[in-house]
Amino acid sequence: MHAPIAEKKIKSRNYDAVAGIYETLANLYSFGLIRRAKLAELDYLKTGDRVLYLGAGSGEEAVAAARAGARVTAIDLSARMIERLRRRMARKGLTAELIAGDALVLAPDPLFDAVCGNYFFNVFGPDDMPVVLAKAATYVRPGGYLMIADMAPPSGPLGPLAWLYLKFGLSFFWLLGLASQHPIYDYRPHVERLGFRQVALNDHRLLGIGPALYRTLVFAKPEASA
Ligand SMILES: C[S@@+](CC[C@H](N)C(=O)[O-])C[C@H]1O[C@@H](n2cnc3c(N)ncnc32)[C@H](O)[C@@H]1O
Repeated sequence: MHAPIAEKKIKSRNYDAVAGIYETLANLYSFGLIRRAKLAELDYLKTGDRVLYLGAGSGEEAVAAARAGARVTAIDLSARMIERLRRRMARKGLTAELIAGDALVLAPDPLFDAVCGNYFFNVFGPDDMPVVLAKAATYVRPGGYLMIADMAPPSGPLGPLAWLYLKFGLSFFWLLGLASQHPIYDYRPHVERLGFRQVALNDHRLLGIGPALYRTLVFAKPEASA
C-alpha cells in the first residue's frame, strides 16, 4: 500500500528552506557534474519542443532549455524554488509555464515531447519511486522522451569509492529531511518495464576518469499503435 500523495509532500516542503543554496551546494559537491548531467539532456530537445521539468528546483537546466528554444513547463512543490526560477527566467527575458505544486497530480493536454526528472525520483523511497516514475511516464507523448539525470549506480573496481561519496550526499540530504534513505537507484529496469526504450546513457566522471558518479538517461516512449 503506497502512502497518499499528501504524505509524499512532507519532506519536499523542506526544500523551501534550502532554495537559495541548493543548486550552488549541489554543483560544489559534485564539481559541476550534477549540472553537466542535467545539461546533457539538451542534446535531445528540438526548438519548439514542449518539455516538462518535474521537481525542477531553481531550474538551471530549465533556463538553458528555454534559451535553446524549448517551450518549458516546470513544476516544484517548493514555492520558493519556483519563485527563484521565475526571477531567473525573467532576468534573461525568457518565458515558461512555472507551477508551484505537486508533480504527481498533473493531467497535461497535450502530452509533452519530453519529461525530465532530474535528481527528482531519488527524493522518494524504494516503494514510492517506481510509482512516481510510472506517473511521470504518463506525461510523455507517444514517441517522446523521458529523461533522467541522477546519481550513477556504483560499478567497477572503484565502485565502492563512488558509493561512499554518493551515500555521503544522500545521507546529508536525508538528515535535512530532503530525501529518503535508499539504495542508489538504477532507473533503467523500472523505465524499461514501462515499455520505454533506452536511447542514451551518458556517465559523468570526475575529470573524465574514475568511476561514474552521475548519469544522464534518455528513454523513448513507444509510438502509439495504429
Ligand atoms: C533534489 S531536488 C532537485 C531539484 C532540481 N531538479 C535540480 O536538479 O536542481 C528535488 C526537488 O523535487 C521537488 N519535489 C519533491 N517532491 C515533489 C512533488 N511531489 N512535486 C513537485 N516537486 C517535488 C523538491 O521541492 C525539490 O526542489
